[in-house]
Amino acid sequence: MDLRLDRFLCELNIGTRSQVKAFIRQGIVAVGGVPAKDPNQRIDELSDRVTFRGKPLEYRRYVYYMMNKPEGVVSATRDNVSRTVVSLLGKDAREDIFPVGRLDKDVTGFLLLTNDGDLAHRLLAPKRHVDKTYLAVLAHSLGQPEIRRLEAGVDIGEERPTLPARVELLTEDDGRKEDKAIRENKVLLTLHEGKFHQVKRMLQAVGNEVVGLQRVAFGGLRLDPELEPGEYRELTEEELAILRESCMEV
Ligand code: URA
Repeated sequence: MDLRLDRFLCELNIGTRSQVKAFIRQGIVAVGGVPAKDPNQRIDELSDRVTFRGKPLEYRRYVYYMMNKPEGVVSATRDNVSRTVVSLLGKDAREDIFPVGRLDKDVTGFLLLTNDGDLAHRLLAPKRHVDKTYLAVLAHSLGQPEIRRLEAGVDIGEERPTLPARVELLTEDDGRKEDKAIRENKVLLTLHEGKFHQVKRMLQAVGNEVVGLQRVAFGGLRLDPELEPGEYRELTEEELAILRESCMEV
């Protein structure tokens, strides 16, 4: 492997391109124990020992984070107006990280962030049908005819109707009477595609309205309930294997 020193430092979020050049000029970056002078110096990012202010830097080609996206944050790397999901990564916000697909600004839940373009491409490819499950809070309760329509596929103004979806009403009585009415307006919807505003448009197509939406599962992985909105963690090796499996050729 072979990478320019300034790019290596940027990818590890040590600073912007001009900041890392300045750091190199100041002599606080060393490669193999020797202070570097040239930002264009090529390094082997896997075997060269690079330090910044004396601390070794660990390079990982690919990183994978599960985030519980909060409301009010956009699924983008940069935005002139709103905070982005990448900015929530703080010190882990490497230059090359991006969200895999989008959740609307008002939608919360599972968002994958990575710098693995190949996996992202496969996860988003329409022909792979990676499952996404949403918990939707609706303005009105959902009747059986509407459920059957959602399961069969509805016209949301695209060339073709939506693919069949799985619909599960959350109506179980947990004994909390005051909560029951709300729970009957909650539905779990599993889609095998990802059209723009798809859940909101599907519910609108059957005369309902989404008043709250959270993605609770993606590509065979469930959102970690320990993650508060805005928090994130790395995927485990096992989770990554499940995710890769979910987008194998069908
Ligand atoms: N469906 C929507 O309507 N919005 C999202 O963000 C995701 C699915």
